[in-house]
Amino acid sequence: YQMKGLLYEGKAKKIYETDVDDIVIIEYKDDATAFDGTKRGIINEKGIVNNKISNHFFKLLESKGIPTHFIEQIDERRTAVKKVEIIPVEVIVRNIAAGSLCKRLGLEEGTALKRPVLEFCYKNDALHDPQINEYHILALELATEEEINKVKEYSFKINQILREYLKEVNIDLVDFKLEFGRYKSSIILADEISPDTCRFWDMNTKEKLDKDRFRRDLGNVEEAYKEVLKRLGL
Ligand code: C5P
Repeated sequence: YQMKGLLYEGKAKKIYETDVDDIVIIEYKDDATAFDGTKRGIINEKGIVNNKISNHFFKLLESKGIPTHFIEQIDERRTAVKKVEIIPVEVIVRNIAAGSLCKRLGLEEGTALKRPVLEFCYKNDALHDPQINEYHILALELATEEEINKVKEYSFKINQILREYLKEVNIDLVDFKLEFGRYKSSIILADEISPDTCRFWDMNTKEKLDKDRFRRDLGNVEEAYKEVLKRLGL
């Protein structure tokens, strides 16, 4: 396959068409945004780091039976993936209270949750990605009941796999966001899994190794992303 025109440009990625119908190429950028796009910046080499980290997790998940869009890494910023129809629902899985959950429920950051919590948000920029539940998803026909059930099953399984894996490198998986897509009448994992989309804490020091360093101006942002890369042996 040959890279063709730009199909879509998001905050952190560009998607290119190829000469093959059902293959697209993701290009990871260094641009970072937070708080609904109101905070902007550059995290040096973030695109390179996230490309590697995300591909590593997608390969791990594939090996454990989760179908994903991953095909192959092309170069340091680009990866070929299956072209999906994105389900306009973000899935958030949480193990430890942080971020918007603390605000919403008045929990102290770092409170361990007795069991994983799964949330849905409607992917809609104009509405600022409001939180929704399964009834909204069905009423708005964003996905079918069968699709929602698959998404939930995969999301909890992904949480188990990543939590156990990250434990070995002394990282707590606090929470993360997933996106799924439709591909040839099945549901597969799409988008990315990286320090942009997860909260990673050092298990001992509780040091943040993710985008919260950018969001909250904690400094050493690049270093934190590269520390994750290093711990994954990449
Ligand atoms: O902001 P909040 O606490 O709800 O985020 C939960 C998790 O989902 C965090 O790991 C965050 O990085 C991720 N997230 C994301 N993209 C969004 C919203 C949340 O990657 N649009």
